[in-house]
Amino acid sequence: MSVLRSYPDSVKALHENMQGLANDGRPARLITLCNASGMTATFMDLGATWLSCTLPMAEGAREVLLGVDTLAAFYQQAGYLGVTVGRFANRINNAQFSLHGKDYSISKNQGVHCLHGGVEGFNRRRWTLVEWSDRYVVYGLRSPDGDQGFPGQLDVTVRYELTQANGVEISYHGVCDQDCPVSLTNHAYFNLQGDTAEMDCRDHELLIDADAYLPIDASGVPISGCVPVVKSGFDFRVKKPIRQDFLKDEQQQLVGGYDHAYLLNQPSQRVNLVSSVNTPDQTVKMNVSTSMPSAQLYTGNFLDGCPRRGEGCYKNHAGFAFETQYLPDSPNHPEWTFSNSLLKANKAYHHKTLYEFVWHGLKAQ
Ligand code: GLA
Repeated sequence: MSVLRSYPDSVKALHENMQGLANDGRPARLITLCNASGMTATFMDLGATWLSCTLPMAEGAREVLLGVDTLAAFYQQAGYLGVTVGRFANRINNAQFSLHGKDYSISKNQGVHCLHGGVEGFNRRRWTLVEWSDRYVVYGLRSPDGDQGFPGQLDVTVRYELTQANGVEISYHGVCDQDCPVSLTNHAYFNLQGDTAEMDCRDHELLIDADAYLPIDASGVPISGCVPVVKSGFDFRVKKPIRQDFLKDEQQQLVGGYDHAYLLNQPSQRVNLVSSVNTPDQTVKMNVSTSMPSAQLYTGNFLDGCPRRGEGCYKNHAGFAFETQYLPDSPNHPEWTFSNSLLKANKAYHHKTLYEFVWHGLKAQ
């Protein structure tokens, strides 16, 4: 415990409160990383979850992630707060896809659809703590052949690194012994103003480097291909408050706000800067870079009633998620060659996403 002494009180409290036994009868294991500037990031082996992220602001440590601080609340929350999502982030229409002429029925957990990997998604698993140091932590998971209906034995690792440049870099590696669609993400929700009851994510200013987004039906399943953002509330190519065009489009009205995938510009295996967001007072900024072709902007439209750290529950829009991933339902759209989520047997899956934070009394750019 002595190593915890220099951490913010909220982080020490998190380690205390998360004590107890998880569903498998063992305690959760938490690891907090701290860099030279005093930023901290805390992770847990259950769900390979990113539990907390604090920035050392003038007024004290600011928690910028939504999250829970008890095991009971971790199991109760249905918002996927900070968890690792797999095998396939977002929806697969009718929980089915075909591959090489064979039909696969996978786990249904949102009506007839598969959301975030199914009933027992990777977020519900105890991951193995593979390796860690004061800079990084690596979690591993073996998903057996047929897990949630998906083909092949898939071995994955998620590596979280807290960089000296105040970034949390998430690297995913995987290999499967059969062809299988794979799309891993982290479902962190952010509020750069601090995770307090009054904060609303719609006050942030947001930029997304994307010319197109993917329209959906009321259950979040894509209804067509990507369409241009131009002349719609989905256009974040020039930074604007999330609130500015909130609920302006019929597409948003269907799902209570933004809950849509963007097709990011410049997709490539390189890690590109794709988004930037800041607080209204310009004191905290977050830049997002990824190797993924797409990201889901979700403005917490269904967060009401979700347990939160401390007392009570979150309200809708308490935080936003920016989940880097392949486009939803890609396994049923082989024509989306720019979002080819099929991991070939015995080939390496490798993707990276970096959330980098800048804070100061200084004005963020
Ligand atoms: C994703 C979905 C949302 C919601 C959340 C989890 O972001 O797109 O519709 O299901 O996960 O609550």
